[in-house]
Parts: sequence; C-alpha cells; structure tokens
Amino acid sequence: MKTSWPTLTQAVYACEKCRLCQTRTNVVLGEGDLHAALMFIGEGPGQQEDATGRPFVGAAGQLLDKMLAAIGLTREQVYICNIVKCRPPNNRVPEGDERMACMDYLRQQVALVRPKVIVCLGSTPTRALLGDDMRITRDRGVWQLRKGVWFMPTYHPAALLRDADKKRPAWEDFKQIRSKLIELGAYGMEGQHGDGQV
Ligand code: URA
Ligand code: SF4
Repeated sequence: MKTSWPTLTQAVYACEKCRLCQTRTNVVLGEGDLHAALMFIGEGPGQQEDATGRPFVGAAGQLLDKMLAAIGLTREQVYICNIVKCRPPNNRVPEGDERMACMDYLRQQVALVRPKVIVCLGSTPTRALLGDDMRITRDRGVWQLRKGVWFMPTYHPAALLRDADKKRPAWEDFKQIRSKLIELGAYGMEGQHGDGQV
C-alpha cells in the first residue's frame, strides 16, 4: 500500500526496529524536493546529521552541495537521504540487519518521490540497492536501469575528501548525471513530474 509523507515521517521518527535507535540523537529521514527527478542516497547519518536531523550537512555534505552547483543544481531541487536513518556509533558501516530493518522506509521514500535517476553515494547504497556483488571502484560511472529508474553508483563525497584522485572520476559521473536528466527531459524540471500528491 502506498504511504503518505505524514504517515512515513511519524513511523520513522518513532522507529525502534533496530539497535541504532538506542544511540541516535535525531532520526534523519531526508530532505529536498519531494517530487525531485534526482535522488541521492548515502550510507547513514554522521555526527552533524545526527545532531541536526538533516542529511549531508557536514563536510561531505558541503562537498556534495558544491558538486551539485557544478552541474547547475541546488540541494532544494533534489532529494537526499540515506540507507539507514539513524547514526551508526562512530560512523561504522551499518550492519546487514540494520540495513534490512530500515530498507522499507527507503522503498516508501522512492515510491513517494518517484525519481527518474537515483545516485548511490559509495559502496553501502550501491551494494544495498544494486547487489552485494557490486564494487564501487569497478562499477561506478555505469548506468543501470532497474524498474524504470536509472541508477548511477559513484564515490561517496567523504571518499573524495580522503583521496583527491577520486575527484576527477566523480566529476565525470556528475556530468553524466546532468546529461541523463537532460536526455530524460528532467533537467530544471523540479517539482514538475510525479503525481503531484504529497
Ligand atoms: N554521510 C552519509 O552517508 N550520509 C550523510 O547524511 C552524511 C554523511
Ligand atoms: Fe528504525 Fe532505521 Fe533507525 Fe533502525 S536505523 S531504528 S530501522 S529508523
């Protein structure tokens, strides 16, 4: 059954389906254009996201904003969220049972936003959404069409901050993202598609 944003928001904010609820400060559901053509999916909230309840507001998020700006977009024009909605302690990778417990919320977000393009930021969302056999270094930059949605795995912005050699390939991926949106007639069309129901 298709949910609504108020129902989903209420459920996630009260969620205790996995152990990450015990250590979170705030749940981080996601934010942006609720009918965005372009959706970004990260791994999970970090310290600043946990403190504020907003996705990608720390150093990695600031780099993501810059990369969006480089392809002529703002974070208000896209939708940004994560695989898990609560911060894993010490920013460890979310475990399998945590990812599985949280996955239904992401499915509902995708069903509500109905993006045309989904960008997987780093290994965790790439494997969770495209298969455990994915390898980010090998498979980034290659489009995969799944159930009518174009998926693009690329490096996590935090990886670009650690390793400057990854910046050029990531920039190539972002140019491909812009091209795909143009090809789909969805570039600069924020809020113009979907069923218009929130
Ligand atoms: N890293 C992520 O994967 N998600 C965030 O929201 C912030 C940093
Ligand atoms: Fe619930 Fe997801 Fe938070 Fe786990 S990470 S408590 S499943 S919202």
